[in-house]
Amino acid sequence: MKISPFKLERYFDKYEFSAPYLLSSSDCEPLTLEELLSLDTSGISAGFGKTKLGYTESKGNPELREEICKLYTNLTPDDILTLVPEEGIFISMNILLEKGDHVVTTFPGYQSLYQVAVDIGCEVSKWEPDENLNFQVGDLQQLIRPNTKLLVINFPHNPTGSMLTEKELTQVVELARKNNITIFSDEMYRFMEYDEGNRLSSVSDLYENSISLFGLSKTFGLPGLRLGWLTTRNQEFMQRLITFKDYTTICNNALSEKLGIIALQQKEAVIARSLSIIQTNLAEIESFAKQNSSWFKWRTPKAGSIAFPKLDIQGSVMDFCQDLVNKKGVMLLPHNVYDFSRPHVRIGFGRKNLPEVLDVFNSYVKDSAVVA
Ligand SMILES: Cc1ncc(COP(=O)(O)O)c(C=O)c1O
Repeated sequence: MKISPFKLERYFDKYEFSAPYLLSSSDCEPLTLEELLSLDTSGISAGFGKTKLGYTESKGNPELREEICKLYTNLTPDDILTLVPEEGIFISMNILLEKGDHVVTTFPGYQSLYQVAVDIGCEVSKWEPDENLNFQVGDLQQLIRPNTKLLVINFPHNPTGSMLTEKELTQVVELARKNNITIFSDEMYRFMEYDEGNRLSSVSDLYENSISLFGLSKTFGLPGLRLGWLTTRNQEFMQRLITFKDYTTICNNALSEKLGIIALQQKEAVIARSLSIIQTNLAEIESFAKQNSSWFKWRTPKAGSIAFPKLDIQGSVMDFCQDLVNKKGVMLLPHNVYDFSRPHVRIGFGRKNLPEVLDVFNSYVKDSAVVA
C-alpha cells in the first residue's frame, strides 16, 4: 500500500518550529516535565532512576491500563491497547478495511481518518456539516449503503470544534447497529467539554462493534509522550490490533508509560489546567471576533481547543495565510490542507501565548487591504 502525503502535517512541518507565533495548534499548552512531576503524589517519580529501559508489555503497562480504564464505564483493562495515537488510526483502518469496502467519514477531518481508507482502495463518502458547521444525523443516514462497512466519526471534531448531543450520538450508534456497521470513533478531544453536561460517552462504552481512540496529546497537554490508546469490547478486533502492532512499534516507551500514569492519576488537575487556559483564550478571541465581525465569522464551540471560522475576505485564504506567516510569523492553517472548499481557517486556542499571538495577528489585519 502506498500512502499519500499528509497535507496538514507537511504544512506544520514547514512552520511549527520556525514561525514564532502559532495560531492553529490543536493541543493544549504542553506541561513541562517539572510541572508533571510536581503533581506526582503516589511516589512513582521517586523510582524513576530504577526504571528498566527495556521492552515493555505490548498492550501497555498494566497499571497504566488500570488508570485508563477509569475513563470508561463498561470496559476492563483487557479492552485497552496503548500505542501512539496516530498509529492507532493506521492500525485500525488496516485491520478493519479491505479494497472495495464502503466507508463513511466525518469531513473535513484529520486526514488519516479517511486517507488510509482511500489508499487501501475503499470508497469513501463524506458526512459534511451544514452552513453552521453542525453535523446532522439525517445527512449521515442518506450516506449509508447496503455495503457500508465502517463509519468514522470524530467528536469533539477537528477542525470545526463541533459536537453531537448524547442523544444524537445514540442515534448514530443505533444506525450503525441496525446496518451492521463498525464505528471507529476518534475521541482525542474528549474531556474538553466546557460544560460537563455536554460530555459524550465513549462509543466503545456504547457499542460492541466499535473501536475508540483517545490519548494524552490534546486534553492532557502531553503530545510529546506519544501515548494514546484504542478501546474495544470486541476481542476479535483486539487480537487483530495487537497482531498488527507487532509490525509498527511493538510496545511503548517505558518512561512515557510512567509519566502517563502520573497524568492519569492527576487527571482532574491536568484537565482543569487545560480548560482554564481555553476559557481565558476564548474570551480574547470573542473580543477579537466582535471587532472583526464583518469578515471573521466566529462561533464559539462547545468543546475542544480548536475552531474553524469562515473568512469573508478578498482573494484566497491560502494567500492570506502565506502573507501572514511571511510578514508577521503567525501560522494559520488554511482550509486547503483539509481539502475543504469553503474558505475557513483553523484557530487553536489551547496555548498560553494566544493573547500575544492574537495581538500580532491584529496588527497584520489592521494593515491588510483584503479585510473589509
Ligand atoms: C482528531 C485527531 N486524531 C488523532 C490525532 C493524532 O494524535 P497524535 O498526533 O498525538 O498522534 C490528532 C492530532 O492532531 C487529531 O487531531
